[in-house]
Amino acid sequence: MERISENLSRYKNYNFITALFNVEQLDTLQTFEVRDSDIFLVTYPKSGTIWTQQIIISICELSGGINENLNNFEKMPWLEYRDDRPDYALRPSPRLFTSHLTPALMPPDMKKKKRAKIIYMMRNPKDVAVSFYHFSKALAFMETPESFGSFFEKFLTGDVFAASWFDHIREWHSKRDEYDILFLTYEDMILDLKGAVTKICSFLGRTLSEDAINQVVEKSTFKTMKKDSKANYEFLPKDKFSGDFMRKGQIGDWKNLFTVAQSERVDQLLQEKLGDLSLKIICE
Ligand code: A3P
Repeated sequence: MERISENLSRYKNYNFITALFNVEQLDTLQTFEVRDSDIFLVTYPKSGTIWTQQIIISICELSGGINENLNNFEKMPWLEYRDDRPDYALRPSPRLFTSHLTPALMPPDMKKKKRAKIIYMMRNPKDVAVSFYHFSKALAFMETPESFGSFFEKFLTGDVFAASWFDHIREWHSKRDEYDILFLTYEDMILDLKGAVTKICSFLGRTLSEDAINQVVEKSTFKTMKKDSKANYEFLPKDKFSGDFMRKGQIGDWKNLFTVAQSERVDQLLQEKLGDLSLKIICE
């Protein structure tokens, strides 16, 4: 492990928030026993994680999976942050997990016989950068960026929490045949939420009536989630996080902060680093 800045540590090509990071815990993932019924949501930060959590949880609840009086963070905990929560192995099936990790850090057992389902949610890097900038200002464990410009430079070089957006996408995309994985984009969910809910439902092998699908959609709209105290992450302690997870929820907010030159640099990097992948990245 290498300390790379005041708040970040680098381990296996990934940047952890030092205050939340524990190497021993992380290494236990290498022997973590995966169940066929496990569901993993994987994202680069600020790509619609808590939105997709709400969809997966609602689908599982309505199709008779989980029914606990907990918030979404507890129902679908982060794989990499154990805190003092009970042993994961004891959780009843289906276990739901969230993660920002790269394939190299995930339990290798996930690959065997393509066990477990993974949903990978991707968002365009311009909106991720802006959302991440606001998030960094609000999270106590992170360095407060001096300006959007200085954050943007670090984002492009991957000197931020979770390292490079471009590498995260490439690594998961290039390993996709090793897992049972569904790639979705934030933008597709904005443009057709019901379509995305239906896709997730069928990928998870859950059968829901038209009425139940509509209920999942209703529970997952920005407006409903913002008021839902179990889903909006306002339950996080204010001394740790003083911002808003449910901030704007739009495509194209980057236009309020980006210069033309910054936008062109991202376009060029998209071409250079991911141009060979069959990805549809919608920025507006
Ligand atoms: P903005 O900061 O651009 O508003 P994550 O959960 O990965 O941290 O991502 C947070 C981003 O997802 C925030 O983006 C937030 O507003 C957006 N988001 C959360 N729930 C949403 C919803 N129901 N509809 C649209 N966007 C949502």
